[in-house]
Amino acid sequence: MNQTNQMSTTMKMPQILGVSFIAFLLSTAPACSQSEPPSPQGVASLAPAELRDGEQKFTANCSACHGAGGVGTKQGPPLVHKVYEPNHHGDAAFQRAAANGVKSHHWQFGDMPKIDVVKPDDVEQIVQYIRWLQKQAGIF
Ligand code: HEC
Repeated sequence: MNQTNQMSTTMKMPQILGVSFIAFLLSTAPACSQSEPPSPQGVASLAPAELRDGEQKFTANCSACHGAGGVGTKQGPPLVHKVYEPNHHGDAAFQRAAANGVKSHHWQFGDMPKIDVVKPDDVEQIVQYIRWLQKQAGIF
């Protein structure tokens, strides 16, 4: 009688462990799936697929001065700025800036050197990307 009692106590142990293990899994599962969804935070990674080439060319050739996402740095002004909206600096201004450089006139950053590794087609893609950033920022 006494022995039977002890048997059933020891038999229950694995069951209890099993239940708490499942409870543990259930409690962590929702936490995991909440942190799963890929929600890109950076402005850059939110660019629509068709603008990714322009984004990449901007990052490679312009962002050292104009900043990631065009927000500006100590070396150059933000392009996501009302000064550079389409009516004030049309697409041709971007082509000229890349092809010839820019004499400092709006800011105190000094001159922009010409960036002739980017060809007119590249600049066109970069401009599309900048216009998108400007729109996102509500500039036009
Ligand atoms: C070495 C730093 C540097 C790099 C790299 C650079 N810029 Fe600039 N950029 C400047 C500075 C500084 C100015 C501001 C000049 C001024 O005072 O108006 C400027 C101005 C401009 C302007 C305004 C032109 C105007 O007519 O007023 C455009 C457009 C521009 N940059 C586009 C670009 C693009 C596109 C690239 C990449 C292909 C690029 N920049 C790379 C420094 C840079």
